Amino acid sequence: MKAVDYRNRWVLITGASSGLGAEFARALAARGANLVLTARSAERLEQLALDLGRVNGVLTRVVVADLASAEGVRALLAGVDALAVHVEHVVSNAGFGAAGRFLESDAETQTAMVRVNCEAVVAIARHFVPAFAKLRSGGILHVASTAAYQPTPYMASYGASKAFVMSFSLALREELAGTGVRVVTLCPGPVPTGFQRVAGVDKPLPKLAVLQAPAVVEAALHAYDRNHAVCVPGTMNSVQTSAVRFLPRAVVSKAARWALRSRA
Ligand SMILES: NC(=O)c1ccc[n+]([C@@H]2O[C@H](COP(=O)([O-])OP(=O)(O)OC[C@H]3O[C@@H](n4cnc5c(N)ncnc54)[C@H](OP(=O)(O)O)[C@@H]3O)[C@@H](O)[C@H]2O)c1
Repeated sequence: MKAVDYRNRWVLITGASSGLGAEFARALAARGANLVLTARSAERLEQLALDLGRVNGVLTRVVVADLASAEGVRALLAGVDALAVHVEHVVSNAGFGAAGRFLESDAETQTAMVRVNCEAVVAIARHFVPAFAKLRSGGILHVASTAAYQPTPYMASYGASKAFVMSFSLALREELAGTGVRVVTLCPGPVPTGFQRVAGVDKPLPKLAVLQAPAVVEAALHAYDRNHAVCVPGTMNSVQTSAVRFLPRAVVSKAARWALRSRA
């Protein structure tokens, strides 16, 4: 596939108010993309949209929506449709985690996580991808995680939600093979963003695996250009995600429990 020419093309980015989503917005605006930015934090989105419009001369729109409910997802999709812009690419990035023992976790947070990380991802793909397939162009970049590769004790629902995203994204990619539509799965390892505060991870991140958001986004857009199935940025993260494929599940689960025990 040819590299993507983003100039004057509309890209929808979910979770654009912070972290990787905001970084995707900066990187895509620098490539000339017009942006639809969405999240719950209206002021942060408006400021980012203003800044990127001013610096990069691109068009920007903001749709505020809470993806933790079906109504919120419907409001997002209706809000984007009402803009009457032709969205050609989607970065399905919004998501959050929650660290700690499952039995002591907040029940509403656990189910909201599944709604944002999984249900909204499916609804967004279902809304936009049929048009991409019809036009035989465009695509969707799903943000999963290295957490997708094994169970994540003390972040049980989060790892499971990201395994869902990766499996869904890879299956969708196969269904769309040969249609000219890109479906790429990004699996970042630890990246210092708002994620750690929201998830309640207060321990330092493993130094060897950490990458900064701009490096992760550059790797992701490189993979998207080439329509790679999966992008795991960083050598340590590649080694970890490759290694788990060769080990029995029980061994991997126990190793993950040991590695993640500080989050208990
Ligand atoms: N940082 C990491 O170490 C890491 C590693 C692997 C994967 N990831 C994944 O990367 C993605 C981006 O996370 P990040 O690291 O950039 O974290 P972040 O800085 O906390 O950003 C998360 C984004 O998701 C949005 N969001 C959260 N809940 C939402 C809701 N209910 N409705 C709508 N939007 C919501 C947030 O916006 P509002 O709060 O304004 O709504 C924010 O823009 C997530 O899917 C995360 O799972 C992160």
